[in-house]
Formats: sequence, C-alpha cells, structure tokens
Amino acid sequence: MCGIIGYSGDREGLEVLKYGLKAVEYRGYDSVGYYDGTLVKDVGKVDDFLKKVEKVNVPFIAHTRWATHGGVSPKNAHPHKVGKITVVHNGTIENYKELKEQLNHNWNSETDTEVIAALLDKYNEENFLETIKKVISMLKGTFALAIIRDGDPKIYFAKKDTPLLLGIGENESFIASDLIAFLPYTNKFIRLEDGDFGYVYKGTYWINNKREIKEFEGNVEAAFKGSYETFMLKEIHEQLDIVPQVFSVDLSEIRDIFKNNRIDIISAGTSYHAAWYLKYLTNYDVQPYVASEYPYLMRDPEWIFAISQSGETIDTIKAVKKAKEKGAKVISLTNYISSTLASLSDYVIPLNAGIEIGVAATKTFMAQLLFAHNLIEDRNIDEIKEAIKRGLEAPLFDIKREKVFFLGRAINYVLAMEGALKFKEITYIPAEAFPAGEMKHGPLSLFDDNTDVVFFLGPQGRDLAKVNLEEVEARGAHVHKVIFPDQYYTISATVFLQRLAHDHALKLGRDPDKPRNLAKSVTVE
Ligand code: M6R
Repeated sequence: MCGIIGYSGDREGLEVLKYGLKAVEYRGYDSVGYYDGTLVKDVGKVDDFLKKVEKVNVPFIAHTRWATHGGVSPKNAHPHKVGKITVVHNGTIENYKELKEQLNHNWNSETDTEVIAALLDKYNEENFLETIKKVISMLKGTFALAIIRDGDPKIYFAKKDTPLLLGIGENESFIASDLIAFLPYTNKFIRLEDGDFGYVYKGTYWINNKREIKEFEGNVEAAFKGSYETFMLKEIHEQLDIVPQVFSVDLSEIRDIFKNNRIDIISAGTSYHAAWYLKYLTNYDVQPYVASEYPYLMRDPEWIFAISQSGETIDTIKAVKKAKEKGAKVISLTNYISSTLASLSDYVIPLNAGIEIGVAATKTFMAQLLFAHNLIEDRNIDEIKEAIKRGLEAPLFDIKREKVFFLGRAINYVLAMEGALKFKEITYIPAEAFPAGEMKHGPLSLFDDNTDVVFFLGPQGRDLAKVNLEEVEARGAHVHKVIFPDQYYTISATVFLQRLAHDHALKLGRDPDKPRNLAKSVTVE
C-alpha cells in the first residue's frame, strides 16, 4: 500500500521524480520522500511536497506511504537510512520486533522498514547481492524494496508478495510499484516475481532468476485525467467506451468450466460485489467468499475463481495460494494480466477495462459485471451502451441526512452493497446496505426522519421490494427510488450510484480520487 519509484540514468532527476511520485501516489498518500544522497521526506500530499523540491540527483529512490507500522509522521516516512544503506519499502515485516531486539541500534522511527536498513548495513559486504540474499532470508512478511548503498551507483531491489517492476530503457532503468510510473520513458518492463532480487544500473540489470522483458502496448494517455475534474469522473464516463473491448474476450473454454463445476469465488471490496452479481445473474453453481475469510471457510475446492482488478490484493492472493495448496485449480479475472494473481492462475481472463487510477473502482466494476453477462452470452453492446448513457444522464438526488441506507432485493441488493461502499468510501458518511427483506429483522429500528434511503427497484424481486419500501416510508425515512427502464437496469443503476457518491463527495469537499486511509491496491493484510 505504498508507492515506489527509483531511477538510474541520465535524465533530469526532478522530472522523473515528479512524474513517478504522482503516478504512484494513488498507492499511498499520507507521506512522501526520496533519497538522492540526501534524505528528504515529510508528511502530506505529493504536490505540496514537490513544491519544495528544486533539484534531485540520480540515482534516487522515492516513496509514497500508506502507514502500517508507526503513525503518519516525518520520522516514519520513507526512505529509512541506517549507516550507508537507504531503503524504501512496500509491505509489512511480521518479525520486525524480534529483529529489532537482536540489533543494538538507536531506532529513528516506529516502522518495520528501518530494521531492514539496519540489517543491510550490519551485513554490508563487498558483494552486496550476498548481503541482500542473507537479509531477505531473515524477513518474515511481504516486501518490495528499493535500496541505495552510499558509494555504489546501483539501485538494488528485492520482492516478495507485493508488486515491483523494472523499466528498462536506453541507458536508463527504473524500479517501480506500477508500470505507469515509467511508461512515458520506456514501455519495456520486467515484472519481478517472489524471491527475486538484484540491481539496476542505467540500462543494465541483474536478477537472481531469469526474467523476460515484456512490452506494454496499452494506452498511456488513459493514465491522465484530461479535462475531467477527477479521475473517478473520467473513469465513470469511460464505461461507455469499454463495452466492446470487455466483450471481445472469448470465454468459450471458461464457460464450460462454469457450467460443469462448483466454483468458489474469492474477492474483496467491489470485486466481491461483482462475485455476487455473477451469482444472481447466472445459474452457475458458484459461491462468493470474502477473500480474507476464505481460508477459514475453505473446504476442498476443486475450482476457485478469483476476481481482482489489480491482481495484487494480498487477501485474495493469500486465499488463492491456500486453495492451490489444497489442489484447487484457479481461474482469475483481472485488469493486469501480468499481476501476481495472474501468475498463480491456470486460466487468466483479462478484464480489459484500461488503467483505473481513482481509488474507487468504477469502470473495473462495470467490466466485471459485463464479464458476467459475457459468460451467459448476453452481449447486446448497443443496448448496454444505451443503459450506461441513461445512468450518466439521470438527474441525481440530494442526500441530506446523517444516516444513509442502500436497499434492494435479489440482484438489486448487489447494487445496494456497491452503492453503500462507494458512498462511504469517498464521502466518509456512514452508509450501510441491507437486503430489503431483512429490514424487519432488526435494521428497521434505525429508520426515522433523519434517514436517507436509496432504494434499487430493478425487475428482479420488485414486487416484494415495493412492500419493503412502504415499510421504510412508514417510519418517516426519506426514500429516493432509483428508477430506470428494466432493460439492463443494473447497468444504468451502477453508473448512477457511482455518480451519486462522486457528486456528494465533491459537495463535501472530499477528494474522490484519494479517499483518506485507503489505497488503490491493498497489498497488506
Ligand atoms: O484490486 P481488487 O479488485 O482486488 O481490489 C479489491 C478492493 O480493495 C477494492 O475493490 C476496493 O473495495 C475499492 N476501493 C472499492 O471502490
């Protein structure tokens, strides 16, 4: 849940630092820092930090932080330097307390990362690769590391369970948590795998394992906001464009697997809602599970289906690894076909949603819904685009009260769950979803005239939902009905609920692209 960028080459350091930090800022944005021979770090947003930076030497390593160990403070911001060694880190070290106790050192921070710098400094040998190998064998946990050793022109790295990529250009190299951090400079990259370590120096690199250089062929422009006020709004509108590319994926082989097997679906957050959408929409024998709970609930699955836009969500990856240990075969649906999740899968289905920067998943959720329609061979592109347009154009209503509930029955309950998640995620207003039929079993006591209710009334389960709606209205709650034509109601309503959350967040002065305490790619447990 942190962003890393490192550079070795002949470009102006400041330019690469500025671009790279902005590109990975979505991964964590409570603190920022870099090391270029001098340690510079602070709490706050990248833009404010960069205003104070005038010159950056090369090589440098830099970091945007999402705090895990130790609060948000300048001393806990990365990089961390001990002796000659400076480190930036994404991940968490479980045994950092034990390791700290073993070292006789005055710690400058409360982080788990500083111990890595201290160990590397303690065992610093002529052949630094041997040092890295030794130190990472002592670490329990997850890490993507970029390391500078004073007096050595190389940038070293190591990776386990969280993403790290090398960008290899003409006479220059990059280390980053995400491709987009170096795409304007080179489209040649290596996605490091668990256990990899090595170094980059200008256009050269060394990795302990043989890895292939790949070429990125996607659209870099998509990573920029254009004329939209926020990435989220841009991505909401891009839902119109992605329909053909999502349906272009051939699912014939996968369809047969779904028809003939019981499948556990593993996912988190919005992707978990997509799993329920698939269940309500189709007749397949599937069961959605929250990824972080799956290890406790898993029996002996033959097939699992992992849904993750990033392909890097640690909860999902760990659940997949556990299921694989039990012999399960893995199908995955991800926007990143060279992600960690993809590398663990027997079948990888590309989501084809294009790069999504806003922390709130929007067009990737739409692509997950469309995947479900594609799976049941329901591919009316024109009608679906019309439904998206309706969702984009429908007038929004105002949410004014302190309590907000999202309700629906059947597949509309999936919309309710996604509506509540999106709303609370970017407005910070408590919002909960309930199946409309459950209200009378407890939640109804919460309803009064200080309550806003967003009610999804699509065709599935509508007759009974109307009864529940009256029950809520009778308690004085302010009910807003989400009404669209039945044809692809769920698609229109999805776009609508995203706009509702976005609009309300802006009204409250929130930044929908970077909600507090969250990050786009959740690589910590
Ligand atoms: O990359 P993933 O699909 O695995 O991410 C899962 C969740 O972290 C993600 O959907 C999260 O809930 C979104 N921020 C919601 O908008």
